[in-house]
Formats: sequence, C-alpha cells, structure tokens
Amino acid sequence: MDLQGLIRRLPKAELHLHIEGTLEPELMMQLAERNGLALPYASIEEIRNAYKFSDLQSFLDIYYAGAAVLQSEADFHDLTYAYLDRAAQDNVRHVEIFFDPQTHTGRGIRFDTVIEGISHALEDGQERLDISYRLILCFLRHLTADEAMATLESALPYKKRIAAVGLDSSEVGHPPSKFKAVFERARAEGFLTVAHAGEEGPPSYIVEALDLLKVRRIDHGVRCLEDPVLVARLAKDQIPLTVCPLSNVKLRVFDTLQQHNLRQLLDAGLCVTVNSDDPAYFGGYIGENFLRTQQALDLGIEEIHTLAKNAFIASFLGEAEKARHIRSVDEIVATIL
Ligand code: HPA
Ligand code: ZN
Repeated sequence: MDLQGLIRRLPKAELHLHIEGTLEPELMMQLAERNGLALPYASIEEIRNAYKFSDLQSFLDIYYAGAAVLQSEADFHDLTYAYLDRAAQDNVRHVEIFFDPQTHTGRGIRFDTVIEGISHALEDGQERLDISYRLILCFLRHLTADEAMATLESALPYKKRIAAVGLDSSEVGHPPSKFKAVFERARAEGFLTVAHAGEEGPPSYIVEALDLLKVRRIDHGVRCLEDPVLVARLAKDQIPLTVCPLSNVKLRVFDTLQQHNLRQLLDAGLCVTVNSDDPAYFGGYIGENFLRTQQALDLGIEEIHTLAKNAFIASFLGEAEKARHIRSVDEIVATIL
C-alpha cells in the first residue's frame, strides 16, 4: 500500500475543529430557506467564490455572517451530524469540537438551543458512527472578558457536557492575559483549558496561554519557532500543537503548503497534530489535510505514523481509550512495513 492509501485507512482524531466552520454552502442555502432568511449570495458557486481570504479577520467576517443561518436546535443538530458523517468517511474515530456560543447568543439565539442541538448530534454520532467526542466551548477574544465570564456562567448548567474551554477569533491585540480571570474560574469549575495562540499572534501569546491560562494544548502555535526557549519548553513538556495546514495557507500564515513549518515542528520534537479548523471554508477535511501536507512536505511513513498517534495522545480521552486507538494505528502502519 502506498502512503496515501495508508493515510486514508489510518484511524484519526480531530482536535481542532470549529463546528460553525463545517457549514457547507449547500447546507447554508438549505438553512437560509428553512428559516426564511435572505443570503447575500445567489448560488453555491457565488458563496464559494467569496471564500478568498487575505488574513484571519477577512475569514472571520464571512464566517460569522454565514453562521447567521443557524437558528433552531434542529439547525445545530443537522450541522453537527453532517460534519460527523463526513468525518466518518476519513476514518475519524474521535472528535474534540469547538463551538462559539457568543456567535449565536449575540444575535438572540439561546445558549440551550445551541448546546442541545450540538450535543444530541454528538450522541447520535457516537451511537450510529462509533465516533467518540468531547465538546470545547470557545470564548470570542475580540469581545470583553466580562462577556466571556457571563458566557461561562450560562454554560455552568451544562458543565457535564463540556470538557474544556478555549479561546478563538481575532488574535492580535487580544492576548491570553485578557482572559486570565475567566480561565481561572473555568478551571475552578472543573473545565480543562486550551487556547488559540501563535497563529497570527506572537510567541509571547503562547507563553501567556501556558503560564496564565494553564492550557493543556495550544491551537495552531506555528509561530513558536520564532522563540527557541519556548520551543524547548513545548518539547520538554510535550504540549500538543493542533496544527491546521490548509487553514494556515488559506489565511496566509504561510504562502504555500510547501512553505509550512510542520516538518520543522516535528523535527524539534514537538507533539504536532494535523487538523482541519474550518473545513467548509478552507477546502479540505482532515483526510485532505493529511494527504496534501504529506505530498507538499514529502512526509515519510514515520512522520505520518507519529502524527496519527499524536492526535490520540493529545486528546482528552482516558488512558485506556488512548492506548486502544494507538494500537489500531500501529496495526495499520505495520501492514505496510
Ligand atoms: N483562528 C481564530 N478563530 C477562529 C479560527 C481560527 O483559525 N477558526 C474559527 N475561529
Ligand atoms: Zn481554529
């Protein structure tokens, strides 16, 4: 079997996936119709043509506008189940999904509508597709710390369904330190923590996320290579980076996939994982991220094996579950050695 065939068959865990970023143009149009909303686009093709981004903000403007078609519990359910169904095709066995409640509560949708829809779909996916899951609530960092705290409070009744809190949206100018108190409260309530850092923002944001927010993983983190002391720390502590190669090219963090620093991150001994971020907007789900990155960087079987194992190691699964998945990764790799 060739490497690309191996990649298709490997059991995968997806750790960096914004559920609102899986809204495909077809579903966007269907939901707009179902909810009697006018879209600023006349066709699927027009929607896809609008997806030309120059940086993170130019994407976020379109992404938040698209999310406005999500209104009812059924809409959130259908969005989430469609993603799981697509993920199953890539042999994804475990997902840790971000959701952005403030994107919805900010336009009058209730928190419980959002979480009920998403979590029922996750239960359906576990049952029908055998995909396990964790849910991660992300705070929008361009909004205030007080608004994040209020969001955390509205999530407390659903604490059992939410494994962790994270931080996303416009990075530069909104350092992790802004959310220190919110994350302290979240940890006291029993949530694990993660944060987007070092995507467009400087390596010092990664340091802040570790020191002030006590995160278990860094989402993106690709700019860590600018700080050798930080790289040594990330390697020593095996802090996972949830890297999203196609996202990084679409948002111009790197000009081309060939210029992506994923191989350097691996060579530095970091716990790197491959993820899809917002696949409906960035042109590829997790399988495509693996396949295209392997080709662009000429990754070998050992590197692919490491990336696949890292995803389970870096997940919030229990040790026995991690070991079970890693064994099945090892078995598939052994078939081509
Ligand atoms: N970065 C920050 N915020 C986001 C992203 C991202 O890649 N995707 C969705 N929200
Ligand atoms: Zn992201």
